[in-house]
Amino acid sequence: MNGFTISVPASSANIGPGFDSLGLSLGLYLTLSVEKHSHWEIQHQSLLLPDFESYDKHFIYQIAKETAHHYGKQLPPCKVTIDSSIPLARGLGSSASAVIAGIELANQLCRLQLSLLDKLMLATEKEGHPDNVAASLVGGLVVTASTANDKINYYKWNSLNIDIITVIPDTELKTEASRSVLPEHFTRKYAASASSICNLFIVALTSHDYHLAGEMMENDLFHEPFRATLIPKYTEIKKAARSLGNYGTVISGAGPTMLVFAPKGKGQSIAGELQGQFSSYNICQVNIDTQGMKVTSGKEEVAEN
Ligand code: HSE
Repeated sequence: MNGFTISVPASSANIGPGFDSLGLSLGLYLTLSVEKHSHWEIQHQSLLLPDFESYDKHFIYQIAKETAHHYGKQLPPCKVTIDSSIPLARGLGSSASAVIAGIELANQLCRLQLSLLDKLMLATEKEGHPDNVAASLVGGLVVTASTANDKINYYKWNSLNIDIITVIPDTELKTEASRSVLPEHFTRKYAASASSICNLFIVALTSHDYHLAGEMMENDLFHEPFRATLIPKYTEIKKAARSLGNYGTVISGAGPTMLVFAPKGKGQSIAGELQGQFSSYNICQVNIDTQGMKVTSGKEEVAEN
């Protein structure tokens, strides 16, 4: 086996009204460098990665092992060196990127030849919803929909002409806690309003009407009204971002990071202004990743997704 590298981008889910459906791939990465070895070994390079007891308790190893077993295979031993620029439990899809990395690790090591849809279905099963995993897998803005028999359908759209700013607080929020405040049921009238806002958001966004898209983003009814109190300075950040001329500001995934849609070319200066106002936060412009997960062998790219 030749050594290879798996690189998986971060993601932001929901983008306001697209709860559990929309994902946006972001240019922060989880990277696995994999070499043949006499026994299993996993090493962390980034302080952003969580501690682990032993290789077999490592989340990525466990996903890889489960994937291999699902196809009746065993993982061959190797040394995996992991680096990451994705902060944990901040609503930037760190667990989804780890799930995608684990599935791809098994795919490469056991030569499973999984299709993109196979990977998406497996990852959605493990993550519970397709938004983050789809964005990390294929890149860009991804709209997903589960239909009969849990089939995942998706559409990737790669033409966003905006800058993205992430406003990351110094506190974690676990997805489970953030999902526990959401209602189990909505009335028909409420659900119709909530989905109509998402419909208009998507049309506005793909028509490059970013003012209308921003307005729809900020009028989500599916999750933001219930989560707002869990997000530090939710109202203040939205207000400050709006007064600096941004299109819209939403909770990134389950939070606590906030995601700002800024006019193209203004992201960096607006991020600087916001940083001045919210000094304890980490606020920066982040690129949209358009490619999704990549596998490279040496210097050569062997596969995307
Ligand atoms: N759609 C998910 C949520 C993303 O909002 O809970 C976080 O995993």
